[in-house]
Amino acid sequence: MSDLFDADRVYAARTPSELAAEYDRVAESYDEVLVGSHDWRMPEIVAGLVAWLLPRDALILDAACGTGLIGEHLARYGFTHVEGLDLSSGMLEVARRKKVYGPLMCAALGEPLPYADERFDAVTVAGAFTPGHAPASSLDELARILRPGGYAIFSLRADVEQPDFHAALGQLVAEGRWSLVHVGAPFQSLPRAEPHVKNRLYVYIKF
Ligand SMILES: C[S@@+](CC[C@H](N)C(=O)[O-])C[C@H]1O[C@@H](n2cnc3c(N)ncnc32)[C@H](O)[C@@H]1O
Repeated sequence: MSDLFDADRVYAARTPSELAAEYDRVAESYDEVLVGSHDWRMPEIVAGLVAWLLPRDALILDAACGTGLIGEHLARYGFTHVEGLDLSSGMLEVARRKKVYGPLMCAALGEPLPYADERFDAVTVAGAFTPGHAPASSLDELARILRPGGYAIFSLRADVEQPDFHAALGQLVAEGRWSLVHVGAPFQSLPRAEPHVKNRLYVYIKF
């Protein structure tokens, strides 16, 4: 069986363990297919936003880091304190080999995260707040582990409705836990393979 990334199989996963197994299956070919063939632009853009907002000694959590594409870009910018987590141990193993992350954890967004309150200067989530992946309830834990003044930088789909995310974001704002800094314009994140897929990037600052 081919080990190539197949979006239909990813979106067919019915449980987190099926999703993790699917990402485990494609981990070794993910970078070649997603970046090389599909022109996956998100990691580069997210890393650029981090570099614009934060000093190079900032402590960053790349949540749902996958194979570590954001970490590679952050390393090129000179960031040296980047940690990661992901549901898929196979994806984490590829990320680990790149030697651009500190600790890498196999953990699930949507569950309590194994980090102290107010630990990180920034948290990134690229491509994991999408149907069948990490749930909107993940946001509460991200707000908890950010220090006051820290940034959450993440993508949401612009071509599909994600009302649960907008409700959860509104709730965190209403509770005074963080505030919106910027919402980007929709862009094609997989222009060669899935031109209809559009994402926006969101930046929130923690109070
Ligand atoms: C499309 S990939 C994006 C990976 C990486 N951020 C990038 O930009 O290449 C989605 C990743 O989210 C991870 N993921 C999905 N649901 C998750 C969850 N609930 N908690 C943590 N990681 C999750 C998958 O294992 C996969 O590595």
